[in-house]
Amino acid sequence: MKLTVVGGGSTYTPELVDGFARLRDTLPLKELVLVDPAADRLALVGGLARRILARQGHDARVVTTSDLDAGVDGADAVLLQLRVGGQAAREQDETWPLECGCVGQETTGAGGLAKALRTVPVVLDIADRVRRANPQAWIIDFTNPVGIVTRALLQAGHKAVGLCNVAIGFQRRFARMLDVAPADVHLDHVGLNHLTWETGVRLGGPEGEDVLPRLLAEHGGAIASDLHLPQHLLDRLGTVPSYYLRYYYAHDEVVRELRTKPSRAAEVAAMERELLRMYGDPDLDEKPELLARRGGAYYSEAAVDLAAALLGGSGSPYQVVNAPNHGILPFLPDDAVIEVQAAVGRSGPVPLSVAPVDPLYAGLMAHVTAYEDLALRAALEGGRDRVFRALLAHPLIGRYDAADALTDRLIAHNREHLSWA
Ligand code: G6P
Ligand code: MN
Repeated sequence: MKLTVVGGGSTYTPELVDGFARLRDTLPLKELVLVDPAADRLALVGGLARRILARQGHDARVVTTSDLDAGVDGADAVLLQLRVGGQAAREQDETWPLECGCVGQETTGAGGLAKALRTVPVVLDIADRVRRANPQAWIIDFTNPVGIVTRALLQAGHKAVGLCNVAIGFQRRFARMLDVAPADVHLDHVGLNHLTWETGVRLGGPEGEDVLPRLLAEHGGAIASDLHLPQHLLDRLGTVPSYYLRYYYAHDEVVRELRTKPSRAAEVAAMERELLRMYGDPDLDEKPELLARRGGAYYSEAAVDLAAALLGGSGSPYQVVNAPNHGILPFLPDDAVIEVQAAVGRSGPVPLSVAPVDPLYAGLMAHVTAYEDLALRAALEGGRDRVFRALLAHPLIGRYDAADALTDRLIAHNREHLSWA
C-alpha cells in the first residue's frame, strides 16, 4: 500500500509515522511519500520518519519530494495536511478579528473564513492532480477548515473524507475515566466539524448503555476544566460540547483573554522551531514529547483507522468522519458536510442514523451550515460582496458594521493568497 502525505514537511508528520509504525497490523504500509514545497523541512522530517520506522522494524520505504504529481502517482490514499501561508498567515487570522471585537481563531469566525479562502483553491488543484494520477485514490482531508474544505472536494466530485481528532480525543479521555479500552467507547457525536456535541457515551457499540450521565456526575469537573467551561453549563446541557463551542458559549470572555496573551500561532511557531531542531538530531528515532503539546493528539490513530477502512484492511467498524449529510440531520441540506459516526468501508463512509437533535444544537448547526455554504461560494468565486455575505451570516458576527470591518481586514491581510483581490 502506498500513501502520500501532502504537507509532509509538517512538524506533525512524525506523529503520523509513529501511528503507521505502531499500527502496522491495521495498515500494511509499503511506501510513504512526503510531499512538501519546503525542501529543508522535508529533509529533516523525512530523516526522522525513516528512523522512527527503522527503530520499530518497519520496512516501509519513505520517499520525499517537492514534485506533487510524481508524489501522488500510484498512491492508494492521499492525506492532505497543508497550511497555506504557514503559521504567519494563521497568526494574522488570530489577530485582526480581535480589532473588531470578534474571536480570532484559525477555524472559527472570520479567521476561519480567511483560512478557507486561502485554502480551498489550493486543495482543489491538488485534488484534480490526484484524480488525474489515480482516479481510484481516496483523499483524506485534515486540512482546515475541514468542513468547508471537504464540502469543496465533494462538490467537485472527489473521493474525499474529512477527518478531525476532536472525537478520538474525547473517546480516549472518556475511556481513561471509565477505565475501559478506547475501542469500547462509542460516542454519539453530532454536529459540524469544530461544532460538535457528545450527546451520548455508549459502552461496547452504538446500541450499548449510555453512561454519559454517570460520566458527567463523576467526572464533570475534570471535563469542564479541560474545556475551560463552567461545570454548571455542562450539567444543564447534559452533553459535552467540543472545546470549539467555547468560542460561542464564552465568546466575549475568549476575546478578552486572546487580547492579553500571545497568539496560538506564535506559540506553535516557537514549538515548531524547537521540533525541527530536534528532528535534525540523527540520534532521535521516536516522536518527541514536545509534539504532545500540539492540538493534534491521536490524529495518527484516527488517520490509520480511516485509511485502513477505506482501503479495505481492518480498522474500527465505526468512525467519526466528515461526510455529506444526505438526510441524516433532516434540518440541514443534503449536501451539507456533517461530522458524525459512520460505518466505513471501501466504498466510503455511510453515516449512522442520529437521534432527533435538540433545537439548542440544531439551530446553531443550521446557522453555521448556512455560513459554510456562503464561505465556500466566496472561496470559489471571490469578491468582496461574497466575503461580506459569509461574515454577515456567521452567528458570531451578524452585524453589518462588524462584517464590513472584518471584510476589509480579511482582504487586506490575504491579498497575496487571493487571486481576485
Ligand atoms: C485540534 C483540531 C485541529 C487543529 C489543531 C490545532 O487538533 O482538531 O483541527 O488543527 O487542534 O492545534 P495546534 O497545536 O496547531 O494549535
Ligand atoms: Mn480538527
